[in-house]
Amino acid sequence: MFLECIFEEHFFYPISLLVLHEIKKVSKNKLRKFSELLSLPNVYQCFDWHNPVLHGAGMEEVPLKGNWKKLHFKNENPITLELACGGGEYTVNLSRMYPNRNFIGLDVKGARIWKGATKANSEKLSNAAFLRCRIEQIYEFFEPEEIDEIWITFPDPFLRDSKENRRLTSAFFLKQYRKILKSGGIVQLKTDSTPLYDFTMETIKADDKCELLYHEKDIYSKPLIMPELEFKTYYEGMHLAKGLKIKFVRIKLHI
Ligand SMILES: C[S@@+](CC[C@H](N)C(=O)[O-])C[C@H]1O[C@@H](n2cnc3c(N)ncnc32)[C@H](O)[C@@H]1O
Repeated sequence: MFLECIFEEHFFYPISLLVLHEIKKVSKNKLRKFSELLSLPNVYQCFDWHNPVLHGAGMEEVPLKGNWKKLHFKNENPITLELACGGGEYTVNLSRMYPNRNFIGLDVKGARIWKGATKANSEKLSNAAFLRCRIEQIYEFFEPEEIDEIWITFPDPFLRDSKENRRLTSAFFLKQYRKILKSGGIVQLKTDSTPLYDFTMETIKADDKCELLYHEKDIYSKPLIMPELEFKTYYEGMHLAKGLKIKFVRIKLHI
């Protein structure tokens, strides 16, 4: 289990003493984060994708599927899921903005969700939680209709045609979202990638149960339609610094 955690990003470094020193530093830092994740009360992790079980603080197995509101949030408020959340900037900011809603940031990389989870924990944001698993397996961790809304923030665009199915707005992924979303649930994508934006528009057009609510190729060129569009993720900051335009698509998914 521990090896899987350490090598979640597949590093390849040419060996020199200087680089070896850097690897040790990176690994030490990551190991500290992985170890802290194991005791955070707002983090749940799946360590083995062949055995989709969630472990919470102290490695306790928690049967969260269908029970997020009852066992974790302890309220009946709607749940928004942020996919590919990285450092969880949207999850943390949304939970501050909407205390009467629940938010879950999901990413496969532990060292990234550590950032959002520690921030939410130190601010006592009881409506924010983090889930470390693969998006492909979300149906293992949520019951049908358990989720009200999905945010997808700056996902990898997987530009090669052969990787089309890995794009988080492909027909394959919309099918996965339908397994856990309420009928008429909202899915919103923020991206810097024009090919991913165009691909998303094509996917929507081809899906007669997918209703396009809003789309914009350069959101900051006009007044924002929702205050939360103002939040910037880590990757968004980098894209803006390069002068890239930020795109947004909001859809309603019917089952
Ligand atoms: C480009 S980063 C964006 C992170 C963050 N949303 C931001 O904007 O700063 C894409 C994220 O997607 C995550 N990711 C990619 N494929 C995934 C998968 N199949 N399941 C879970 N997370 C995944 C990566 O670990 C990474 O953190």
